[in-house]
Amino acid sequence: MRYFEQNHWPEFPAAPKLEAHERELIAPSLRQFQLGEGANGHTLLRLGREFAEESGEAHYPRSLELFIREEQRHSEMLGRFLDAEAIPRQTKDGVDGVFRLVRRLWRHECMVTVLVSAECVAVPYYTALHDATGSPHLKALCRQILRDEAMHLTYQGQTLAKLTAGRGFWAASATRTLHRLMVLTAALVVYTQHRRFCLAAGWPLQDFVGSAFQALARVERKLPGSAIVGFSWSWPTRRISV
Ligand SMILES: [Fe+2]
Ligand SMILES: [Fe+2]
Repeated sequence: MRYFEQNHWPEFPAAPKLEAHERELIAPSLRQFQLGEGANGHTLLRLGREFAEESGEAHYPRSLELFIREEQRHSEMLGRFLDAEAIPRQTKDGVDGVFRLVRRLWRHECMVTVLVSAECVAVPYYTALHDATGSPHLKALCRQILRDEAMHLTYQGQTLAKLTAGRGFWAASATRTLHRLMVLTAALVVYTQHRRFCLAAGWPLQDFVGSAFQALARVERKLPGSAIVGFSWSWPTRRISV
């Protein structure tokens, strides 16, 4: 929780407008990610409060609030960038809608799992965006978001460890396999949607998926080590350059 309280963002450098070709390339994906970052988190908070009552994790709701606020800051800062570039903000998106519906329908553990899967995919996306853009402002934003996301993955790993504590070998293995499948699916869907941008940024599918699994490893490091059943991604992953 101390991390969230102390994570103040710097001022971002003012920058000249994007070149027309760059604007055209990144606008569709940036609009979608800006929308996806901006969930109000009401259901997550309600489930988090229930979990805190059941488990005695008294500090959890407060840390969750700060986490949600940090995600909303991502959306707000990206939104301001879009406004400055006169790129209209997106108000609806099919994939984002499915993510939100699944999160709402399922229990707390599933909601966190879906959220983590989206965060795993955010890592290659913002890394690709950082590498692709010439805008110092957008590069700085991507670096800050990636730093935040790395901490979010650790935080959610700790949450999932508490939520799945006491699970036996087979149940833990099945859970982990399902989570890996979810990350793979999310990465494939997002890559398919933003294939043109990813390819122009020099990110083939295998690098994109590999990087998402690299992010998932950060979560899995926090989980009990008994579950070994499940596929793993063995493609040599690309270094994150920020
Ligand atoms: Fe985020
Ligand atoms: Fe996040």
